[in-house]
Amino acid sequence: MLIAKITVLRRQVKQWRQAGESIAFVPTMGNLHAGHLQLVKAAKAQADHVIVSIFVNPTQFGQGEDFASYPKTLDVDTEQLAALSVDIVFTPSVEEMYPNVGLTTVSVEKITENYCGMARPGHFDGVATVVNKLFNIVQPDSAFFGEKDFQQLAVIRTMVADLNSPVEIFSVPTFREESGLAMSSRNGYLGETEKNLAAELYQSLCAAQQAVLAKQPAYAEIEAAQTQKLMHLGFCVEYFTVCRRGDLQSAGMNDKHIIILVAARLGKTRLIDNIQIDL
Ligand code: PAJ
Repeated sequence: MLIAKITVLRRQVKQWRQAGESIAFVPTMGNLHAGHLQLVKAAKAQADHVIVSIFVNPTQFGQGEDFASYPKTLDVDTEQLAALSVDIVFTPSVEEMYPNVGLTTVSVEKITENYCGMARPGHFDGVATVVNKLFNIVQPDSAFFGEKDFQQLAVIRTMVADLNSPVEIFSVPTFREESGLAMSSRNGYLGETEKNLAAELYQSLCAAQQAVLAKQPAYAEIEAAQTQKLMHLGFCVEYFTVCRRGDLQSAGMNDKHIIILVAARLGKTRLIDNIQIDL
């Protein structure tokens, strides 16, 4: 069932809640790929009903970013979701989501200072605000996010804890192409040659993972080596960083739960990926 109006969605949600039935929620910006569908499958296993939102949220795009050209494939998306028996696909317009100027912003500090937060000022305010609004509209028991966007996941977890949102957050591992390339709606921007090259991003994460596991001395050296390798291949590297998974600060030799985060541009396409390590 395709629903574009908040009032209509609320009516259905109210019925389910009154019947004591649980709701799992998967927020997306559409142009669905197999990675998104993993989230939907995990959601289905968790609750009586699944709601997927498709909303390209203008407030999380910066000046000069790809808001206007973001791929829109609603017909194919809804077919894929129907095949998985998703109960509701929520497709609000920008006017439905933002009817007023909007004087309230949800802003998660500290964890947003670096990496994508630094490269894309205001991005995580846009994400936190729209996800909070969607949670208030959908009122789900649980919501599903991909580990591919690990800093986003950390922002959502922090927001939910800080604001006492009654939504349980589940994360789903990154789903990859056979080449190792993390699936992303933005991969569609890549030409054939670029797409082959893009798989090197994951290879560099795997190489860095091996170096960390081999207890190579300073993480800064691993970061520099992989950054250089990627730049030689033609990537414009925004960051390549070995972090503590808990708070996304730089990892030291005593940290056990590590995540390596990378963002790099290939031509006009911005790619992000990460790999987790438990020492
Ligand atoms: P979007 O990029 O459409 O992603 C929707 C969800 O799918 C996110 O939780 C993302 O982490 C997850 N996802 C994307 N690629 C994945 C992959 N290869 N494997 C597993 N999960 C993957 O992220 C957003 O939309 C927006 O910021 C949103 C949260 C909807 C707020 O507007």
